[in-house]
Amino acid sequence: MTANAEQTALSAPTSHQKLAQWVSEVAALTQPDAIHWVDGSESEDLKLKQLLVDSGTFTKLNEDLFPNSYLANSDPADVARVESRTFICSEKEEDAGFTNNWMDPVEMKTKLNGLFEGSMRGRTMYVIPFVMGHLDAKNPKFGVEISDSAYVVTSMRIMAKIGNEVLRKMEETDAFFVPALHSVGAPLEEGEEDVAWPCNEEKWIVHFPEERSIVSYGSGYGGNALLGKKCYSLRIASVMARDEGWLAEHMVLMRLTNPEGKSFNISAAFPSACGKTNLALIDPTVEGWKAEVLGDDIVWMNFDEDGSLRAVNPEYGFFGVAPGTGWSTNPNAMRAIAKGNTIFTNVALTDEGGVWWEGMTDEAPAHLIDWQGNDWTPDAGRPAAHPNSRFCTPISQADMLSDEYYNPDGVKLDAIMFGGRRKTTVPLVSQARSWSQGVFFGSTLSSETTAAAEGAVGVVRRDPMAMLPFIGYDAGDYLNHWDKLRDLPAAQGGKNLPAVFLVNWFRRNADGGFAWPGFGENSRVLKWICDRIEGKAEATETPLGLIPAEGSLDLVGLEISDSDLEAATRFDVEEWKNELPLIEQWYENFGDHLPASMRAELDALRERLGA
Ligand code: GDP
Ligand code: PGA
Ligand code: MN
Ligand code: MN
Repeated sequence: MTANAEQTALSAPTSHQKLAQWVSEVAALTQPDAIHWVDGSESEDLKLKQLLVDSGTFTKLNEDLFPNSYLANSDPADVARVESRTFICSEKEEDAGFTNNWMDPVEMKTKLNGLFEGSMRGRTMYVIPFVMGHLDAKNPKFGVEISDSAYVVTSMRIMAKIGNEVLRKMEETDAFFVPALHSVGAPLEEGEEDVAWPCNEEKWIVHFPEERSIVSYGSGYGGNALLGKKCYSLRIASVMARDEGWLAEHMVLMRLTNPEGKSFNISAAFPSACGKTNLALIDPTVEGWKAEVLGDDIVWMNFDEDGSLRAVNPEYGFFGVAPGTGWSTNPNAMRAIAKGNTIFTNVALTDEGGVWWEGMTDEAPAHLIDWQGNDWTPDAGRPAAHPNSRFCTPISQADMLSDEYYNPDGVKLDAIMFGGRRKTTVPLVSQARSWSQGVFFGSTLSSETTAAAEGAVGVVRRDPMAMLPFIGYDAGDYLNHWDKLRDLPAAQGGKNLPAVFLVNWFRRNADGGFAWPGFGENSRVLKWICDRIEGKAEATETPLGLIPAEGSLDLVGLEISDSDLEAATRFDVEEWKNELPLIEQWYENFGDHLPASMRAELDALRERLGA
């Protein structure tokens, strides 16, 4: 550590002893040139953005088109979450379960210490106090991220509440915080020129669930580097939730109001890049229905005194998939982005200093600089934006943000939806007959893989509650936790548990196209769900669940052929008979941690299918 950094570490501007000590330990290990305590102010933000422009990480966009907005192009090898490099280092291997990579925590720490030794040389070490959820929650969830990336600081400022206000509150109560250490793993030697996107080929995204701590090395990309998001609010929070009797889930949270003025709060768990942000920001096509957004990626749920599940979004911004987001498919997202204050990653740059991605407009501009910095024309034969390119925008910029977003007690949840990308088998919407069947829907959820994580795209995999990459402990114990909610005393025998639905916007027709138009038209499904809760919509029994009875799905004004409607909504016994062995196989992974009720649900389904 330079004399300068040593000085700053010793004179840490905090009375929080544990924090001061941790910062000085990390500084001694990583040897940064300087230490910067992030205050969260606007002036600081602007300075950091200028620094990122100067270092070539950021391109400032045309102020008239996108005020205070920037484009970052990442290293082509650092574009998505790295699930194969993500570890849950619980003390016992069996506590990590079969869905996680595991390594002994002592061994892992030795390895990480080696990697972090001198890893911040030539760089500034930023200390970012943050809170997930409300600062005035009963039990605010604090964290402090230490990072050597200014890109991380500016993005964290959008995704979470950060800085002095948070630090002062932590000090007042000497609060526990989750230490979250991040380095891009690219120290600069004396005189060495920096690159636009520093990172390391070797990546480690590591969680210590008993300690509630996080260490991330080698990647600068979103989910790997903005540690308040997936690492804290899902992986570590899911462990806290198991221990404390609540839920931390990969869900959108929205509020729908019917023409009579009655509101319904609905959450939906879909895997990454399967439609959460679009659903959260839906522009309903059904007459008289209003949608408001509360969150687009993460929901924390807890029981209140009368046994209702109440839900909050712990995040402060959207980190949305850019491709496919356009004025026709998602005008609400486009309006939020157009207000500025946005960081784009891996989209294309227009000649006017704006941005473009596939699906933003019907026709591509005649010339672009693609996400890798090369000239691009519509005949290039390759996408201009990376399929997992993102916009990072403050949630407050959504015109449709619900006032309830600011309520630290959250909203009472009326329904939960599970969904994924399935070309076949899963109908547009089915309702579970019971909580137990709802958990069965979630536990067997399946989806074709997307570009949101490294690896092959389009392969069907099981993704329980859309949490496969995010459950911070044993997946069987996780299912048990869901299953047991039924019996929690606060839930009054499950009386107030939300209704559960399984949806699929992605079923294909005979020509291979999407059978269901999706996006704003999904409001027709939402309407059916709300009407079911009110007992106003008819349903038909299938061996799986209850699907809309003929005529009960509002199709007024919808242009869809009979064959597409049939393809989107039908329940097919043969398809489900083929699904049974896949579920069977999936459940084998859980061994004796599989809740007995899930086995019973599977047996009952088999029986109803006559298989
Ligand atoms: P998230 O990652 O789960 O938040 O998913 P997004 O809402 O960002 O959507 C991921 C991709 O799926 C984007 O390319 C969207 O355009 C596309 N998508 C979202 N909703 C729908 C839908 O209802 N139908 C179809 N066909 N595509 C959708
Ligand atoms: P997504 O969020 O769910 O919007 O894709 C990021 C991620 O899961 O990696
Ligand atoms: Mn996500
Ligand atoms: Mn999203």
